[in-house]
Order: sequence, then C-alpha cells, then structure tokens
Amino acid sequence: MTLKKLSIIGLIILLSTNGFSQNYEAKVDSIMSLMTLQEKIGQTVMYGGSWDQTGPIVGSDNGKYIREGHMGAMLNAMSVKGTRDLQKVAIEETRLGIPLLFGYDVIHGHRTIFPINLGLSASWDLKMVEESSRIAAEEASAEGIHWTFAPMIDVSREPRWGRISEGAGEDVYLNSEVAKAYVRGFQGEDLSKSNTILACAKHYVAYGAAQAGRDYHTTNMSDGELRNVYLPPFKAAVDAGVETFMSAFNELNGVPTSGNKYTLRDILRGEWDFEGFVVSDYTSINEMVQHGFAKDSIDAARIGMNAGVDMDMMGHIYRKNLKALVEEGKVPEQFINEACKRILLAKYKLGLFDDPYRYIDENRENTTKYKPEFLAKAREIAAASSVLLQNRNETLPLSSTSKSIAFIGPLVKDEYNIIGNWAAKGDRNGKAVSVFEGVSEYLKPKQIQYAKGCEILKDDTSGFDEAISVSKKANEIVLVMGEGHHMSGEAASRTNLRIPGVQTELIKKIREANPNKKITLVLMNGRPINLSEEVNLVDAILEVWFPGTMGGAATADLLFGKVNPSGKLTVTFPRNVGQVPIYYNMKNTGRPIPQSNPKQDYKSNYIDVPNTPLFVFGHGLSYTNFEYSDLKLSSNTFGFTDELSASVTITNSGSFDGHEIVQLYIHDKVGSVTRPVKELKGFQKLFLKKGESKTVTFAISAEDLKFYNTEKEYTVEPGEFEVAIAPSSDFKFKNTITLID
Ligand code: BGC
Repeated sequence: MTLKKLSIIGLIILLSTNGFSQNYEAKVDSIMSLMTLQEKIGQTVMYGGSWDQTGPIVGSDNGKYIREGHMGAMLNAMSVKGTRDLQKVAIEETRLGIPLLFGYDVIHGHRTIFPINLGLSASWDLKMVEESSRIAAEEASAEGIHWTFAPMIDVSREPRWGRISEGAGEDVYLNSEVAKAYVRGFQGEDLSKSNTILACAKHYVAYGAAQAGRDYHTTNMSDGELRNVYLPPFKAAVDAGVETFMSAFNELNGVPTSGNKYTLRDILRGEWDFEGFVVSDYTSINEMVQHGFAKDSIDAARIGMNAGVDMDMMGHIYRKNLKALVEEGKVPEQFINEACKRILLAKYKLGLFDDPYRYIDENRENTTKYKPEFLAKAREIAAASSVLLQNRNETLPLSSTSKSIAFIGPLVKDEYNIIGNWAAKGDRNGKAVSVFEGVSEYLKPKQIQYAKGCEILKDDTSGFDEAISVSKKANEIVLVMGEGHHMSGEAASRTNLRIPGVQTELIKKIREANPNKKITLVLMNGRPINLSEEVNLVDAILEVWFPGTMGGAATADLLFGKVNPSGKLTVTFPRNVGQVPIYYNMKNTGRPIPQSNPKQDYKSNYIDVPNTPLFVFGHGLSYTNFEYSDLKLSSNTFGFTDELSASVTITNSGSFDGHEIVQLYIHDKVGSVTRPVKELKGFQKLFLKKGESKTVTFAISAEDLKFYNTEKEYTVEPGEFEVAIAPSSDFKFKNTITLID
C-alpha cells in the first residue's frame, strides 16, 4: 500500500474510530464520499475464485478487476494464502484500499461435515443446529471466509426437487425456528470477532415450490400462500439479525425473484425493514433474459438493481452496465449508493476496515479443522438426526455379541457419498467414517460379513451371487443403500423417488434367500424416498440421510443401541411419486374422505392408493415407548391478549432411556381464508429415563394463530381452534379452545 492510500482510509478510521463498533454509518459515509461512481459499482460485483466451482464459469480476470476497483467480493476463494494474496491486491493496489469480502457455500459444515440440512432438521434440535453452524463458522473463518451462503430456508413440499436436501423440510414453523438457529450459529454474538461469519438467507423466495420439482422452474402461487408458507422463515431470519439475503433463480407469478420489486423492495425493505444487503444467485440477474423478462443483459442489470438486488454474483452485468444506466437516468444513483453502503457496512461490521487480514492467520488455519471436539459433536448430531422409520419385531438394536452380521450394499464402505452434497471443503477421500468402520468399533472382524452387491446406479447384477451367499452365512443382515450424493442438491431433480439402480432387486433376492432372518435397511439419501416395496421386504429401516464426516460411527451407535434413535421426519414420505405434492398441513377440500367409509364415491381420493403417505411428517420411532396422557388446558376460552397453556404428561414406558420430540398442533376450524387441517405451532425435545414421566407445557396465544387474509392483513379471527399435543402429525384432534372477541 502506498502511504497516500494508507492515509486516506487510515485517516477516516482514526477520525471516526472510537473502537470500530460505533457509528458504522458515519465511517462508511466518509469513505463513500471519496469513491467514484464506478468504484461504488465495483462494491456491488462478485466474482469467483478457483478453489471450488458452484456454477458455470463466466470468464473473469480477478486480479485486474480487483486492481481497477471493479470487484468488492469473491466467492469460492479461500485459504489463508489465497485470501491474503487477493486481499493484498485490494488493500495495496487500489486507490482506496477497500477490503474484499470472501463468501462460500458453508452449508452443513465446512471441513467437519454434519448431516445434510434436511437430516439435521430431523433432530428438531435447535441447539444442535446452532452448534453445528457455529463449528462450521469456526472452520470456515479460519480459512479466510467471511460470509456463508446459508442457511437455505426454502420451505419445500416437493421431494422431486433435489434441493429439498438443503432445507428443513415442509413446515413453516420448523423452518422459521431452524432459520434463527443457523443465523445465531454462523453470526454468533459479535460479528467483529474473527470466528463469526455473515449468514445469508436464501433463496428469496418460493424457490422450493418449483413446478414439477424441476430445479429453477416457475413458481406460481397466491399472495396468501406466499405470505403464509414461503415468507415466514425469511422474516424469522430478519428478526434473528441475518446480515444478507440471496435472491433466487425462479420466477414468482411471472416476475423473476432477482428482479422482483414486490418481494425485494416492498416486503423485505418496506415491511420488514431489512438493513443488510441482497446478493443475486449465481448469474440469476442475467437469467432474466432467458426468463423473457429482460430484453438483454443491460436491461437485466437495470431491472436487478432497480428491484433491489445489491450485488451481482458472477453475472458481470453490474460492472459492465450500471454506470451507463445511471448516466442515462435509467437507474437512480441513489440505488447504487444504498447498495454500496450496505455492502461496506457489512465489511465494517466484520472488522475488515479495522484489519483486512483479521481472518487470515496460519496458526488458526492449521489448528481449527477437524478438531476432536468438532468430530465428537458431528457424531452426536448425526445420531440425533437419523430417523428410525420402521422396527418390526424389535429388529434393532443389534447385539454386539451376535455371531455374525452381514453388511451388504454399495454404501457400506462408502466414505465419499456419506458427507452428502454441498459438503464445502469436507474431505471425500479418507476422512469420513464409513458404516463399515463404524460397526467395526462394535464387532470383531470374524463377526462381520461384507459384500457390496451392486453399485448405487448401475444395472449390473454380477455382484448379487456373492451378496446372497454372504447373507446366508450371517445371523442377521444390514443393508446400507440409497442415493449417490449427487442425486440431490442443485440441478438434481428426480421424477422417480425409488432407491436407484438394482438395489431394491438385490433386497428382494436377499429376502428370498433368507425368509426368516431379520433384515435392516440403513438408508442414505437426500430427499423423501418411495419405500412402498421395501417396507414389506425388510424389518427395520433406519434413515440416516447423508450423515456427514462421522456418519458411519453415529450409525453404528444407533444400530447397536449405544444411542437411542430420536429423529423425526420433517418431510412427508409419499407412497409413490403420483401423490406429490403431499404434506401434512394441507387443506381439507369440500369432499374429504369420511373416516368411516374411505371408499365412498365422489370424494377427494385416489382409486389406486390411499390418500395417506407412507411415513407422515413428525414420524420417528425409538427403542423405547413414550405414552402421552392427560392433556390439560388451562382454559377452554381465551381473549386476544391472554395466554393459555396446554400440557401433557409423557411417560417412558419402555426399557431404554431416550429423547422424545413432542409436537403441538392447532387447527383453525373456520377462517375467512380456509386454514390447513393442522399446523405445527410448537415442539419440545425432552429426555426421559426409562420409567420416568414428565409434563410438557406449551403456551398458546392469539399471536400464534395469526395468518394473512385476502386483504394482506396479518390477523387472527375469533372462533374455535382444535389443539393436540402428539408424537407425530398422525392423530385426531379431541380438544377445542375458543378465541373470544
Ligand atoms: C446456488 C446457490 C449458491 C451459489 C453460489 C448457486 O448455483 O443456487 O445456493 O449459494 O450457487 O455457489
């Protein structure tokens, strides 16, 4: 840095600094007073480094753009050496020495990989969500990263959509709670600490409602649906203090979300007072041309900035076009000033003006990744995220004294897929614990039989004979099967929700050869799978999702009963793909099927399968039994300002200690807009020793019952509400409360 440059920014900081935590605005204003229009536009531009590739490469010349003040942020650039080299260019070789911001997709861990987000949500454990994102922030920040493009908080009822794996499932309330926990974990208490990173609420908005589950596809919905289902997690993220938002790829009711003034300026800024900055998704501003919403990239830049997208990710179109657009009066200069200011404020909050190298520390980089305590947490969290879907005849837990157990399937020894998609810098070759390694902690080699049997996707059955012969030699059989990690995540939609390849064929052959043996299926996958056939072929099914670096160890802990399964589904598992979309909080229709006569004609049903799913939202078994009794309501009526309590006693009546996830559901019986048949309004996770009973209490107030009506008012209407506290969404209401005007 030349002395002259040092002194410009240094002087501003000295003049206005009193510890850098105060009066960010004044400092940023004084920096901006020195900036040219093109330099301000430079802050709104993000290009990619070569440490990872998360979208199509659009030619860039990073060194040149930084030097010319044409770039304010980078994605996919990391490591202490890499970020130092780039930051040095920004600090020492540009006119004003404004630091760069480094962003990356730290989605479910950075080095230490936790279960995929859909799996993590199945823990219903907000503390674990926070802890895992805190660890991810520790590891990522130690490699120079300031900002994660997470959490993804797109509600999705679409198992065909590959990105359902990245969110917290189909429920609005759960997604909202989880959103807050991620933000707390990533951003911590104090953003100026070098181990905290900016979070990014994405993809704003309704991306999870892609038609036919095809990625990037159209979304169309009423304003009520948007506000009642898809917006609340984003509002929750704003309330939790999230610093950034990412606009999405999809169009919403004909207007692409990266050029959508209604969602970006009117709702996000106008109604919610969001003060952070909005980044586009990867070239999503440019894609408005393909959407047929912008006539060319110049027009797209105009629409994007005018709609409220502050930063262009990889699109090259703000850099190229905004200056002329301002000069021609097509984009107000004020919008550029506001965008630049928001981005500089974020840099300020991170402490980068105080020390642009504060995230760059070799010692931290070398000592932070894969710390033993991180791995221990990853093991605990992976176990808590797994869901025991079925357990006939107490097939699980297995005994470590069993004479011989056969482990069969393409994922038994897998260390590659097990960390799932979007696994940041997680090591796919050698670091993750496979299921085979995990069970080897419990069994001696002579107790273990192994055969791969087949591949995940290929049609080759040449390994079947060996697998069948191995299965015959064992007393019990564990199959480890599922999807490949690349079969979910971005651009990985499927129309067939079955276990891929010839895996189910192999299960059938193994069952035929072993009609009386206990068979367990351990499943790894990134979405709800159609298990209609498998439920009849195997005795137990343990859904472990893609469980992460310690996934195999955690799976073994569950299989052998060291940990009692406690996860519950946060997404419905359909009977077949024809039922999709299927979710627990649907509407009733005018012709619901009568319980007494499900076959009655002219009712809302299918003629080939029941309306019910295979596994409901909230379902998950344990090795013990929990009994719910004695629902008590503090009152049957309540007013707008009252708080009512609902409580239930839960008893662990089985023979294992365990955690139970207790769920509060409410049904608004009559509304000016029809309301879902049931809605999750609260949950608690509690630990009960065998034989122990505990009372769980939920508070209910009118605030919890609000929804958006057709007038766009967030309101609650007096009347009757059904209430239940249940172990899953599969129950019938028996109690009613009345809100009195
Ligand atoms: C994805 C985003 C991601 C971005 C940067 C896009 O393709 O949709 O979720 O954050 O790439 O990698």
